[in-house]
Amino acid sequence: MPSFSKMLSASSSVLLLFSYAFSTLATPVMQRPSQFSNITGPQGDQRGIYGRNFQPQDIATSTLTHILYSFADCDASSGAVKLTDTYADQEKHYATDSWSESGTNLYGAMKQLYLLKQANRSLKTLLSVGGWTYSQSGHFNFVTNAGARATFISTAITLLEDNGFDGIDIDFEYPSSTDQGNGLASLLSELRSALNAHAASKGDTTPYLVTAAVGAGPVGYNYLNIPQMNSALSFFNLMAYDYAGSWSTVSDDQANVYGGAITGFSTDKALTYYLEHGASASKISMGVPLYGRAFTQTTGIRQPFNGIGSGSFENGIWDYKDLPRPGSTVTEDTNNIASYCYDASSQTLVSYDTPNIAVKKAAYINSKGLAGGMYWELSNDKKGADSLVATVARELGSLDSTLNHLNYPGSKWDNIRSGMGGSPVTTAAPTTTSSTSAPTGAGCSGVSAWSASAVYTAGMQVTYGGYLWTAKWWTQGETPKVQDSYPWTQVRAC
Ligand SMILES: *[C@@H]1O[C@H](CO)[C@@H](O)[C@H](O)[C@H]1NC(C)=O
Ligand SMILES: *[C@@H]1O[C@H](CO)[C@@H](O)[C@H](O)[C@H]1NC(C)=O
Repeated sequence: MPSFSKMLSASSSVLLLFSYAFSTLATPVMQRPSQFSNITGPQGDQRGIYGRNFQPQDIATSTLTHILYSFADCDASSGAVKLTDTYADQEKHYATDSWSESGTNLYGAMKQLYLLKQANRSLKTLLSVGGWTYSQSGHFNFVTNAGARATFISTAITLLEDNGFDGIDIDFEYPSSTDQGNGLASLLSELRSALNAHAASKGDTTPYLVTAAVGAGPVGYNYLNIPQMNSALSFFNLMAYDYAGSWSTVSDDQANVYGGAITGFSTDKALTYYLEHGASASKISMGVPLYGRAFTQTTGIRQPFNGIGSGSFENGIWDYKDLPRPGSTVTEDTNNIASYCYDASSQTLVSYDTPNIAVKKAAYINSKGLAGGMYWELSNDKKGADSLVATVARELGSLDSTLNHLNYPGSKWDNIRSGMGGSPVTTAAPTTTSSTSAPTGAGCSGVSAWSASAVYTAGMQVTYGGYLWTAKWWTQGETPKVQDSYPWTQVRAC
C-alpha cells in the first residue's frame, strides 16, 4: 500500500498546517500570528518560520515525505499568487549562507528547503496557497473566472520553478456555492494540466504534485466537485480536527475518529462522505492535530465549560509539545480514538492526540488504505519518540520514496538553476552540434548508455540516441536532448 506521511507548513515562514473550522463559529488555528514579522534578532536573523523560531533545519526529514510551505496569498480579482513574507522566504541569511556570493541567489527558508531536498531525494515540497485567513478574506473569489484561474496557474508555476518546489497546494476554506466548488475543481484540473505541460517542457518524467486541503464537515465539503477534484489531485489533505472548541456547547473531542454524537463530527463520517462522493481512499491523507484545544471551568469531557484560557500558540490553543499540561491526568478513549488531559485543580481540559492515539490513527489509515497522515503544524511537535509525526510514520511502515525534483532551469535564481553548484548556469544556449560540424563515427566506446535511474553530475558523459552527451549539472531521469537550460549538452555523434 502506498503510504506517506506529510506535513503542512506555514506561511511565509514555516511549516504549519492550517486550522480549519467546520462550523461557522470555529476559530482558525492556522493563521499567521499578528506579530510574525517582528521576531527579529540583532540582524533580523532570529526570525523563524511562522515567527516561531522553528527553522527548516529543525525538520526531521526522515519521518515525513511532503512539506507544505504555508501560506502564499492570491489576489481576489486577478488570481495572481504572491509570497507574503519574502524576507523569511527568500532573503534571510542563515549561518551557512554567504553574504559575498556572486550572482542573484535564493536565500531564506526556500533555499533551506531545496537543500533538504538535495539531502533526501524522497522529500517533496509544495507551496501552499490560501489558508483560513486569506480564504475568509475572499481571496479565492476569482475561481469562477477562467482568465483569473489562468493567471493563478501561471504565477504559481513561476513561483514553483523559481524557488524549487515539487507542487502546489491549495487551501480554499471553503467554497460556498456550487459555482465556487466547480471553480475550485476547474482550477485544480487546469493546474494539473499546466504542471504536466511544465514537466514535459523540462523533460521531467516525475509529475509535479497538486494537493488541496478539504474540510471534515458539511461547511467544508458541501459544494465540492469531488469526482473532478479526485482526477486532478495527487492528495486530498483532510483537515480532521477542530471538531470542538470555544464555539461548542460542551467540552469535547476535537479530532475523534469515531463518536462525536454531540458535535456531529468524526473523521470516519467525513471519510465516508468523501469516499461515497468520488474520492479514492489512496488519495486521502488524514489530518492529525499537533495542537490541543482547551476548555476551562469544566468538570470533564462533554460537560459544560466557561472559557478556553490561555495557550502556548494562542488563547485556548496549546502546542502538542506543551501537552499534557502539568498536573493533568491523561485519558485515552480507544473506541472513539481520541484523548485529552484534565487538570481537576484548575478545571481545565485539553483535547489533543497522544502517541497511543496516533498509533490508533495510523492503524485506521492503514486499514482504510489511505495515503498517510497530514499534520498541522510541524513546529508544535515533540522531538524523539513522542513525536506524533514519527509515531505515525513508524506505524505506516514504509513511506513514499518517489523522487523529488531538483532541476529548475527556468529559475530566476542562479543558485537554484545551478543546483547550488556554486557557479551559476548561464541561460546561454547550450552548444548544439549541427550535422555538418559533428565529427561522426568517432565512436563512444567505454562510455555507458544513459540510464533513467542513474544520477549524473556535471561533466559525466553518457551515450544516448547515437550521440555522446555531457551532463551540465546534477540530473536524474531527464532524457538527454538539445534544449535551452537543460542539463545535457550534446557533444557529438558516436
Ligand atoms: C510584535 O509587535 C506587537 C505589536 O506591536 C507587540 O505587541 C509584540 O509584543 C511584538 N512581539 C515581539 C516579539 O517583539
Ligand atoms: C529520507 O526520508 C525517508 C522518508 O521519507 C526516509 O525513509 C529515509 O531514511 C530518508 N533518507 C535519508 C538519507 O535521510
